[in-house]
Amino acid sequence: MSIQWYPGHMAKALRQVSEQLKRIDVVIELLDARIPYSSRNPKIDDLVENKPRLILLNKADMADKEVTKRWREYYEAQGAKTLEINAQDGSGVQHIPDQVNELASDMIEKMKKKGMNPRPVRAMILGIPNVGKSTLINRLAKRKSTKIGDKPGVTKSQQWIKVAKKIELLDTPGILWPKFEEQDVGFRLALTGAIKEEIFDVQDAVVFLLRYLRSSYPEQLQERYQVSIDSDDIVEWFDEIGKRRGCLVSGGNIDYERTAEVIFRDFRSGRLGRMTLEEPPS
Ligand code: G4P
Repeated sequence: MSIQWYPGHMAKALRQVSEQLKRIDVVIELLDARIPYSSRNPKIDDLVENKPRLILLNKADMADKEVTKRWREYYEAQGAKTLEINAQDGSGVQHIPDQVNELASDMIEKMKKKGMNPRPVRAMILGIPNVGKSTLINRLAKRKSTKIGDKPGVTKSQQWIKVAKKIELLDTPGILWPKFEEQDVGFRLALTGAIKEEIFDVQDAVVFLLRYLRSSYPEQLQERYQVSIDSDDIVEWFDEIGKRRGCLVSGGNIDYERTAEVIFRDFRSGRLGRMTLEEPPS
């Protein structure tokens, strides 16, 4: 689950992760494919610097395939390698070792040139809470679920897990904070479950969602809720959806809070279909 981030937490996370990074050859950055910008830690580039990086777009099963492709192109143009994966059922995960090896090929070559027997490549997973880090580590380690605590930074007792012939993965991920500054980023994090429900207003997040759906996924919006997308009157939509879903208070008025909850749950559970809540910059 999500945590509250305070300046002290952030400083500690940065310190711990940057300490760990000294022992790491390849960084595996885990993002939520539905929000590949908003689920990035704002300091990640400074933190990782020039280390080879594999960006994984996780939860790709819930994201829009076309948009995921564009996000991959966007990050690859910046020099990272990328993969889209579903850590839950394992699709795409099988390609991770090859990509990690390729990213470490310079290091391996250097060792060989010096006449050394290359040691295993060391990798570490970094990401914000709830992006799927534990699920992925457990899958790579081929073990049953162990939830890795949402403590900022890196949990103390650490081991290396052998995930392929010559690859070792740190068994606890680096946990970093999400972006906070922009309001829309907050809505996207809220909708995808990266921040706690107690710290945002579900109705505000749902209004943001409906507006986004109207411009990017009008068909899915219409199909699910039979609202008229010609109108951009959100209250009218709430009225229609609330009425259909029986979200009423006494006197027959619409219960907006419950209506928002219904839409929120529909999105969270994927009932609205596959969708991505942001596009890469053009
Ligand atoms: P974390 O360590 O980064 O904090 O995340 P964790 O692995 O605990 O995963 C968070 C939630 O995301 C889990 O659901 C997990 O099953 C789900 N998840 C992880 N990878 C994928 C994926 O590729 N696709 C889908 N659809 N889901 C994925 P949960 O325990 O039910 O938590 P919640 O979603 O109710 O918060």
